[in-house]
Amino acid sequence: MIKEVVLVTGAGQLSMAIARRVGFGKKIILGDKKKDHADAIAKIMNDAGFDVVPMEMDLSSRGSILTLIAEGQKYGEIKMLVNGAGVSPSQASIEAILKVDLYGTAVLLEEVGKVITEGGTGVTISSQSGWRMPALTAEQDEQLATTPTEELLSLPMLQPENIRDTLHAYQMAKRCNEKRVMAESVKWGDRGARINDIAPGIIVTPLAIDEFNGPRGDFYKNMFAKCPAGRPGTADEVANVAELLMGPAGAFITGSTILVDGGATASYYYGPLKPEQ
Ligand SMILES: NC(=O)c1ccc[n+]([C@@H]2O[C@H](COP(=O)([O-])OP(=O)(O)OC[C@H]3O[C@@H](n4cnc5c(N)ncnc54)[C@H](O)[C@@H]3O)[C@@H](O)[C@H]2O)c1
Repeated sequence: MIKEVVLVTGAGQLSMAIARRVGFGKKIILGDKKKDHADAIAKIMNDAGFDVVPMEMDLSSRGSILTLIAEGQKYGEIKMLVNGAGVSPSQASIEAILKVDLYGTAVLLEEVGKVITEGGTGVTISSQSGWRMPALTAEQDEQLATTPTEELLSLPMLQPENIRDTLHAYQMAKRCNEKRVMAESVKWGDRGARINDIAPGIIVTPLAIDEFNGPRGDFYKNMFAKCPAGRPGTADEVANVAELLMGPAGAFITGSTILVDGGATASYYYGPLKPEQ
């Protein structure tokens, strides 16, 4: 049976919350580096009436991304993309963060952008973390946006001597996600499709819980205590925005990043989270 296809990467809480909003009645191909994660989320969703095919895939590999796309194409046209795969600063090395979050996302947007059907939509997940990093130069922004994917990791700004730590790598990766979404939205637009980005603040998921228990745990707890919302967010609150971006109400939004952080970034610049000078 031919169905519209939703490609989902990362069998985490954010991906699942979004897939539940946009995926009903469609074929959902759910890829994760850890097959047991994909199996677990597929079971929860299939038990709730969704149609999910779990598979092992690695966002940092173009071959694996192409396999995910080919699996989807067995069932119908690729209508949607949800990119919720990623690693956080407490989970991975600088090299892994750049390979997965920066390069992998760029390749995924590029490859899905070649096959997305007319009227198709996608979201990728960056992070508020990128917003706390000072502005790059206009030239660096353009390099992140438009450098051919296979040359991205050779950019001088991404070399080990220019990346301080895993948090800096993560922020560069998430900045790159925003710039890639802008550049890719032009190409997706040529196919009548849209691609956007959500930059979440602290959202309670296994990834965030690793951060709470990691070396920056106190920093994170302070961040949600002192943001205007005064609490961390939930995956469903991110899905609210994804549903808007991916549905007809979001038809005029593309190439955009929406910050969903309970005001943490605002507080970082102009409130109690402002770092002492
Ligand atoms: N949770 C938060 O507070 C928060 C905040 C800002 C941004 N984000 C971003 O949201 C995205 C999803 O995070 P989440 O909180 O849902 O995390 P999660 O831990 O619930 O899910 C992430 C999933 O990605 C998978 N994964 C990791 N590396 C992969 C790879 N190379 N290929 C395929 N799958 C891979 C993991 O196995 C995991 O199942 C990440 O990009 C993260 O940086 C999360």
